Amino acid sequence: MALVLGIESSCDETAAALVTSDRQILAQRIASQDAAHAPYGGVVPEIAARAHAERLAPLIAGVLDDAGVTLAGCDAVAATAGPGLIGGVIVGLVSAKALAMASDKPLIAINHLEGHALSPRLAAPALGFPYILLLVSGGHCQILRVEGVGRYRRLATTIDDALGEAFDKTAKILGLGFPGGPAVERLAAEGDPVAVPLPRPLLGSAEPHFSFAGLKSAVLRAQQSCTHNAADIAASFQQAAIDCVTDRLRVALARTAPAPTLVVAGGVAANARVRKALQALSVEHDMGFSAPPPALCTDNAAMIAWAGCERLALPDFRPDPLDTAARPRWPLDPEAEPVRGAGVKA
Ligand code: KG4
Ligand code: ZN
Repeated sequence: MALVLGIESSCDETAAALVTSDRQILAQRIASQDAAHAPYGGVVPEIAARAHAERLAPLIAGVLDDAGVTLAGCDAVAATAGPGLIGGVIVGLVSAKALAMASDKPLIAINHLEGHALSPRLAAPALGFPYILLLVSGGHCQILRVEGVGRYRRLATTIDDALGEAFDKTAKILGLGFPGGPAVERLAAEGDPVAVPLPRPLLGSAEPHFSFAGLKSAVLRAQQSCTHNAADIAASFQQAAIDCVTDRLRVALARTAPAPTLVVAGGVAANARVRKALQALSVEHDMGFSAPPPALCTDNAAMIAWAGCERLALPDFRPDPLDTAARPRWPLDPEAEPVRGAGVKA
C-alpha cells in the first residue's frame, strides 16, 4: 500500500491531503479563500497567490499531524502543476518540490483536470475504465472518454464559458454573491424552472460542444426586465443549463464507442439537479452512473493525492523532474483540435 501527500493550489482553495492506494483519505484540510475574494465578485489572482503562500505550509504540517505520519512515511509528493492561476500553481508545485527533495521522495506533477477526472475512482472502487466523463468546473466544461490513467480523449468542449462560470455569472447578476454555484442551486429550489423562457445554446447541433455565453446574456436581460423574480430566473437558468448538458451528452454518446459508465466530476457535479439529470440520462442509455460525493467534486487535495496514487501504480511510473514547470494551460488531451468559434464570448 502506498501513501501519497497531495497539494492543491490552482485556484482559490489551498488544500493538502494524505491518501492511500487503497482509497483511505487519512487526512485532508482545505482553506477556502471565499471571504478574501468575495468583495471583488470573483477570484483575484494576486490575492489568491499570496493566500496560498501564507496558508500552505501550516496546512501540510496539519495533515501530517492529523494522520500521525511524517514525510518519511509517505511514498510520493503529488501537486497540481497546472492548469490554473499561475501564481498559486507555482506556490504549490515549488512546495512539493522542496518536500520531495528534502525527503528524497518522488515528485508527481498532476494536471488539475486529471485530478477531477480520476476523483470518481477514489470514491467508487468498482469504477473501471473506460468511462464517459462530463467534467464541469469553474474553468472547464468538457466531455472526455477516459480510457485509462493518462489516456483521455476529448469529445467536446465549450466554445465560450464553462458551466461553473455560467452559474457564477448568473449568481452575480442576481446579486447572490460569490461563489455562485451553490447559491444559485439553493435559490433555484424555490423557483419555477419553466417560468422564464431562456435559450439553450447549440441545442440540437451536430457537434457535441457547449456554449453558455448566450444563456448568461439572456439571464441578464431577464433580470433587467423586472418581470421575473430571482428564484424563477435561477430555476429557469439551471434548467436551461441542464437541458444543454444532457443534449450535448446525448450527441457525444452517439458518436463514441459504448462505455459502461457515465461519470460527472468537477465543482458543478456537486449540484443535486445536475446529478439527477445525468443519472436519468445514464438509465436512458443503459449505462451505470458515478459521481463523487460533493466534497470531492469541488477543488480539493485528496483528488490530487489520489491521481498521484494512480500514477504511482502504473508499471512504467517515472517521477517528474524537479525542474518541472508550472503550466497555466495544460490540455488533458493534447491531440484535441481547436474548436471552430471557440473564444467568442457574448
Ligand atoms: O472544480 P471547482 O471547485 O474549481 C475549478 O476547478 O474551477 O469548480 C468551481 C465551480 C464554480 O464555478 C462553482 O460555482 C461551481 O463549481 N459549483 C457549483 C456548485 N458548487 C460549485 N455549480 C452549481 N451548483 C453547485 N452546487
Ligand atoms: Zn477544479
